[in-house]
Amino acid sequence: MIVRGTQASDRQAVEALLSAAGLPVEGVEEHFGSFFVAVVEEGGRIAGAAGLERYGEWALLRSVVVANDWRGTGLGSTLTRHAVDEARARGVRAIFLLTTTAAGFFPRFGFAEVARAEVPLLVHGSREFQGACPASAIAMRHLLQNGIVSG
Ligand SMILES: CC(C)(COP(=O)(O)OP(=O)(O)OC[C@H]1O[C@@H](n2cnc3c(N)ncnc32)[C@H](O)[C@@H]1OP(=O)(O)O)[C@@H](O)C(=O)NCCC(=O)NCCS
Repeated sequence: MIVRGTQASDRQAVEALLSAAGLPVEGVEEHFGSFFVAVVEEGGRIAGAAGLERYGEWALLRSVVVANDWRGTGLGSTLTRHAVDEARARGVRAIFLLTTTAAGFFPRFGFAEVARAEVPLLVHGSREFQGACPASAIAMRHLLQNGIVSG
């Protein structure tokens, strides 16, 4: 399995994975340059993806998805760690995410639930926060750098 950045030609496969998993595709096209894909070395099939959208000093992790037949093999963990490492390398202060289905998955990577009021305004402006994800979705945060989180 190789994790790499995306090419425009990957988008259809990624959107198909998201739709099959019931995750929103709104905003994927706009931010596709900051997505990653996991590619099966033999055959080149895309078996997983994740997106890291940048909002000022913050990032939004979204669309973490693994194809059904690859779940439980560690791929979701590989993609999430890759995104966290990238965010850290790019100097992001904190990563946010919204989830309805995987609040139990993300704490092992350093994410913890936060009130929506603690999510910076810039991140609130993302398509996910602006309605693509249901209002009942849980917001989570991974602080990479200490300091007061505001703005
Ligand atoms: C969530 C998802 C990405 C996990 O991918 P995966 O490749 O199956 O995950 P891994 O194999 O790395 O699993 C690592 C651990 O997380 C656990 N786990 C997997 N999915 C989980 C979930 N939805 N909730 C809680 N724990 C989960 C696994 O049981 C495993 O636990 P273990 O180490 O104790 O055995 C995958 O199930 C998926 O695509 N789900 C649908 C889309 C989704 O809900 N994405 C998150 C929205 S942001």
